[in-house]
Amino acid sequence: MTAPVAPANPGMVTLTIEGRIVVVPPGTNLIEAAKTAGVLIPHYCYHPSLPVAGVCRMCLVEVEKFPKLTPACATSVGEGQVVHVHSDKAREARKGVLEFLLINHPLDCPICDQAGECELQDYTFAEGRKDSRYMEPKRFNPMEDFGGDVLYVPNRCILCTRCVRFMDVMAKDPVLNVSERGDRAYIGKFEGRDLTHAWAGNVVDLCPVGALLSKDFLNRARAWELDRAASVCPSCSQGCNVMLETRDNVVVRIRPRPNAAVNQHFACDVGRMNYRWINRRDRLEYPVARTANALTPASWSEAVQQAAAAIEGATRVTVLASPSLSNETLFLLSRIAAHVGASSVMTMERGDEVPLPGVPDLSLRAERVANHTGAALFGFTESDAPLASLAAGDVLIVADAAAAVTAIPDGVRVVVIGTVLHESLLPHVVAALPVCNFAEEDGTFTNLRGRVQRFLQAKAAPAQARPSYRVVGELATALGAGSFPPLAADVFAVMAATFPAFTGMSYRTLGLQGAPLPLLVEASA
Ligand code: SF4
Ligand code: SF4
Ligand code: FES
Repeated sequence: MTAPVAPANPGMVTLTIEGRIVVVPPGTNLIEAAKTAGVLIPHYCYHPSLPVAGVCRMCLVEVEKFPKLTPACATSVGEGQVVHVHSDKAREARKGVLEFLLINHPLDCPICDQAGECELQDYTFAEGRKDSRYMEPKRFNPMEDFGGDVLYVPNRCILCTRCVRFMDVMAKDPVLNVSERGDRAYIGKFEGRDLTHAWAGNVVDLCPVGALLSKDFLNRARAWELDRAASVCPSCSQGCNVMLETRDNVVVRIRPRPNAAVNQHFACDVGRMNYRWINRRDRLEYPVARTANALTPASWSEAVQQAAAAIEGATRVTVLASPSLSNETLFLLSRIAAHVGASSVMTMERGDEVPLPGVPDLSLRAERVANHTGAALFGFTESDAPLASLAAGDVLIVADAAAAVTAIPDGVRVVVIGTVLHESLLPHVVAALPVCNFAEEDGTFTNLRGRVQRFLQAKAAPAQARPSYRVVGELATALGAGSFPPLAADVFAVMAATFPAFTGMSYRTLGLQGAPLPLLVEASA
């Protein structure tokens, strides 16, 4: 076959893959080069965030003028190369690889957690044999608890070694190894070691088959029953990009979403396990307002008006906000604070910092909240005793931070903007406005490096709960602090036009990978 004539690109390599001209930097391997042309070269052991091992041979392709088929993961692009991924010779070789992989693989798909998102299933369907020639009994090894959240099902393992390389190279905690050799080989654990590293759960995502399973997710859902929404992990200030997966409006799994600038392909175990609170059922579902010394259900406008009247009649106002609220909501709270001359304080949670050593600047951060940077930009300050100076006649606006409020002096009235109504606040509440949690609304967080990232609504909110930016916007309007639009993208636009740190940004420019604050880009230029 004659290759199309390609234009010269200085400093780049030009080649042809499946008849398409591809221009990539020198050193790119054929799998990554093919991706740029929309061509998927089947592979198992290769993963873009791990060192190349070249052990599975599933990526064999035909390169013109090469004497034999070559593994695409371990072959760098060359000028003028002509690569055939789907030639008869390449497909026949991969068919043979699949036949070997399936020799000892059980017919487990109907009961395997990986079914529906399994690369062995997918490639067998696309390129494998329709039947098996193997009549002998299959090898059997029992399931093993690898510690942490991980179960190992050796019968399904294709020995790609992604899990071993992740623990060795990325976590720098060598717990796993390839034990035995030949057809007896399996993934073993070193004596006395377990997968307890804070980032070990990534081996479940990395495993291309159902050999490593999450105990937490075991039998919770089939892959095709899940709805998915692009989001940002709310559990620390790193801002790992994640996918929230729901079944019947219940979040059942959090998995990392690739972002080279933040978390590559990874998420820590704290982040992936911290989702049950999102589904809690004891929510504040209706607006309530105080009438004749009792809290009773109210319409939205009654509750908002009552909250506004209390704030306007206060001696002093304090806004206590959670730094897990979105930029949009914190921005609107800051408008209220500026309008009524309130002091703005934030709650804070801290824990141990645990890095993933193989990835620069990726760590489970000590700040266990998503938007500390955003809250600080909008003027919220941390204080050891934020409520110490409260006195009779004051109004405290508690924005999703009720858990941090302990004792409130008599005569202090409280406006709650939150997902739950804490009992300790009840005697003081003048109005409570139910809001969505972050999984039920759209918004953005600013991570500790100043990267602004969008999260999308993943599930429906209960009863009358409304997006927090909308509720705070209505309260701001009722107070005469301005009029604000009802959609998150439009609130962001107002914020970018008002607040210099966000100048020029929009949901469109952020996309789903986010962007650094313009002032940081200018500072590094
Ligand atoms: Fe690969 Fe999974 Fe086996 Fe590890 S357990 S070697 S990731 S197939
Ligand atoms: Fe979430 Fe932080 Fe863990 Fe990333 S490092 S997954 S942001 S808790
Ligand atoms: Fe290339 Fe495994 S992906 S040898």
